Amino acid sequence: MISTKNLILIGGGGHCKSVIDVAESAGYSIIGILDTKENVGKQILDYFILGTDDDISKFIDKALFVVTVGQIKNAELRIKLHDKVYNAGGRFATIIASTAHVSKYASIDEGTVIMHNVVVNADAKIGRGCIINTFSNIEHDAVIGNYCHISTGAMVNGNCEVGDGAFLGSNSVMVNGVSIANGCIIAAGAMVRKDITVKGVYSDNPAKLKIKL
Ligand SMILES: CC(C)(COP(=O)(O)OP(=O)(O)OC[C@H]1O[C@@H](n2cnc3c(N)ncnc32)[C@H](O)[C@@H]1OP(=O)(O)O)[C@@H](O)C(=O)NCCC(=O)NCCS
Repeated sequence: MISTKNLILIGGGGHCKSVIDVAESAGYSIIGILDTKENVGKQILDYFILGTDDDISKFIDKALFVVTVGQIKNAELRIKLHDKVYNAGGRFATIIASTAHVSKYASIDEGTVIMHNVVVNADAKIGRGCIINTFSNIEHDAVIGNYCHISTGAMVNGNCEVGDGAFLGSNSVMVNGVSIANGCIIAAGAMVRKDITVKGVYSDNPAKLKIKL
């Protein structure tokens, strides 16, 4: 029987450090970290890198997993690592920082981490494998797809929709009721005021297409 409070983290970079702090605050026991071969044996904060992602199967009956690789330009690596866990028969934790407020009327899928000081309001829906980063705000009735990164301080207002694999930069804002397409990158500080239907990199206020992806 897996203890649902034991965790294996996959990815040992900067984002991993932030997730360690969040997971500890939420009462998890971290068994260790999986990273690349050259980093095995190194220590991240109080925890050791025990192996690589080829060792996932060794832990499936001991712990839940969370992918702690960061995500700026696209979600590819994070999706690949999630698939590796699913294919090995592993299960994911859904982690909510002690300082976050998540409405009892909101839903959050597995593998998603809600970082410190986030607010997720009533009837919001967040998909699997997302990073909802420090001080971001997911307002009522907003829908966040799978494998999204909502960066520090980003503001997703009521009834907005964020497509799968999208990235919202720090302090970006989606005004009420707008949507962005799958895989879009919204630059730090951008203001999304109309629906974005073409996959691309967008910046400025109002958000403009910089690069089509
Ligand atoms: C959008 C982003 C991903 C583009 O990164 P990049 O591909 O390395 O691109 P560059 O920095 O070379 O910028 C490309 C162009 O976009 C513009 N640009 C980049 N970021 C911008 C921003 N936040 N606002 C306005 N314009 C921006 C640049 O001026 C440049 O324009 P130019 O070609 O006319 O000179 C990046 O700038 C960004 O905003 N990252 C988000 C960082 C963040 O929020 N991290 C949070 C982690 S929790």
